[in-house]
Amino acid sequence: MKCELYHDSFQNWKSYPIQKAQLIIADIPYNLGDSAYGSNPMWYIGGDNRNGESDKAKSSFFNSDGYFRISEYFMFCSRLMKPEPKQGKGGAPCMIVFCAYQQQNDVIHWAADAGFGKYIPLVFVKNYSPQVLKANMKIVGATEHALVLYRDRLPKFNNYGKMIFNWMPWERDGPNIPKIHPTQKPVKLLKRLIDIFTDPGDVVIDPCAGSGSTLRAAAEMRRHAYGFEIDRNFYKAAKEEMLDSIQMDQMNILDLQTAAQRQTHQQMRMEVN
Ligand SMILES: C[S@@+](CC[C@H](N)C(=O)[O-])C[C@H]1O[C@@H](n2cnc3c(N)ncnc32)[C@H](O)[C@@H]1O
Repeated sequence: MKCELYHDSFQNWKSYPIQKAQLIIADIPYNLGDSAYGSNPMWYIGGDNRNGESDKAKSSFFNSDGYFRISEYFMFCSRLMKPEPKQGKGGAPCMIVFCAYQQQNDVIHWAADAGFGKYIPLVFVKNYSPQVLKANMKIVGATEHALVLYRDRLPKFNNYGKMIFNWMPWERDGPNIPKIHPTQKPVKLLKRLIDIFTDPGDVVIDPCAGSGSTLRAAAEMRRHAYGFEIDRNFYKAAKEEMLDSIQMDQMNILDLQTAAQRQTHQQMRMEVN
């Protein structure tokens, strides 16, 4: 299994031996600029406004937030995503873009221009909110959003005989997953998405890998994983803390688990039919 994280911009993908993807997952920069921590307690020292502003006040989540080129992102996807298979020859590929609710129209527009004209919006439901300031005066956000984007044919879909709703719980990771990035996505959730849209042996790419969470999820599920991260500190932490700890032993156990899961899933399919 390949699990490769490159310290580079995804725009330089031609320099790397990457296979085409069944699934591209990305949490694209939010372009929030210096209001990234707005209404988050981290704006203040110790989360308390009586202590004054912290170094997070008027700062962005990461250096590149504010000048992300979305058209180049979709150009990358159209080159690096597998082509549509012929009728009856396996499931079509797709991509999942995590983005702010307000970004969705732009993302849908740019995706359509790049040939990804169809989409399914997803909502992730949290049982907590980071927007604690003025929480007794207004409704606070407790959801995250993503779009499943595809060209024409419905993507490969492993539902194991059960309906999959367009909302899912946002399950937080435990202490076995290091906390590296301010907008890090839970590995558990990424595994759920990877399981739905790919099979073991498929290729998953995250062009804006941050903490390496997608690569970790994909590798642990026996998918080939490739990613890019331009920020040196995130890249280093992702390599050393997130990815180097994927143990070969664990991989072998997961191999057995995957085989057992496949058997159960086959059984479930037979029951449904
Ligand atoms: C929203 S964060 C991704 C967080 C990630 N999903 C996680 O779970 O940790 C976006 C990341 O993309 C990186 N980035 C921005 N532009 C990039 C580019 N052109 N190529 C590669 N990485 C880029 C940023 O440094 C940032 O870490």
